[in-house]
Amino acid sequence: MDILKLLQTRHTTKKYEAGRRISDEDLHILLESLRLAPSSVNSQPWEFFIASTKEAKDRLMPGIADFNRPRVEAADRLIVCAARTEIDEDYLQALDDQEEADGRYKDPAFKKENGERRRFFIGKYRDAGELPAWAGKQAYLAQGFLLYTAALLGISSTPIEGWDADKIDEILGLREKGLHAQYAVALGFGAADDSNAARPKSRWPAGRIFHTL
Ligand SMILES: Cc1cc2nc3c(=O)[nH]c(=O)nc-3n(C[C@H](O)[C@H](O)[C@H](O)COP(=O)(O)O)c2cc1C
Repeated sequence: MDILKLLQTRHTTKKYEAGRRISDEDLHILLESLRLAPSSVNSQPWEFFIASTKEAKDRLMPGIADFNRPRVEAADRLIVCAARTEIDEDYLQALDDQEEADGRYKDPAFKKENGERRRFFIGKYRDAGELPAWAGKQAYLAQGFLLYTAALLGISSTPIEGWDADKIDEILGLREKGLHAQYAVALGFGAADDSNAARPKSRWPAGRIFHTL
């Protein structure tokens, strides 16, 4: 695989081929890229809502900006990512238990030490009133994993912030679940006349952003 070529050619899809479905196998890999994404202190403060049918996408449409609606309509899936607005002791305990069940704590002292470290970090953000913003940052890491995995699979994607996050919260009842909508990603297959496919990529030159220390 030519990694550099993949990075140079993956792009945000502006127009999808309607009706073309992502296989169940590829969908599984895409969802695993979200589930397995890294997060600070393994907090995983995210949940994902997957719209796979016209009805599910129509439900979300009032929260999607006009210019993004045709992409959402024609794309095969829309994944909405929400991040936690609070992380309480029950959540932290469940996390410790999951890690234990996954075999990470052969040594009970390590479990205790790890749990304390996690509570310290999370407490710091909570005390500063920054926990929702911090959780949101973790959620964006998962987006990067999803976009890259989609490109590896030859699946087109559109990260979407052109929406009304509060409206999405309302539609999905996210606030009641202790969550806040962060972004969506449309996934499917680009149309032959996807305007972005042939556009050259534009980025700052390396000399502007990399600094040797
Ligand atoms: C967080 C985020 C939000 C974005 N929101 C939208 C959006 O709502 N609609 C859209 O068409 N493109 C959206 N984009 C696509 C960007 O405009 C695009 O990634 C950028 O111009 C670079 O182009 P490329 O992805 O084709 O390399 C978004 C990208 C990111 C990372």
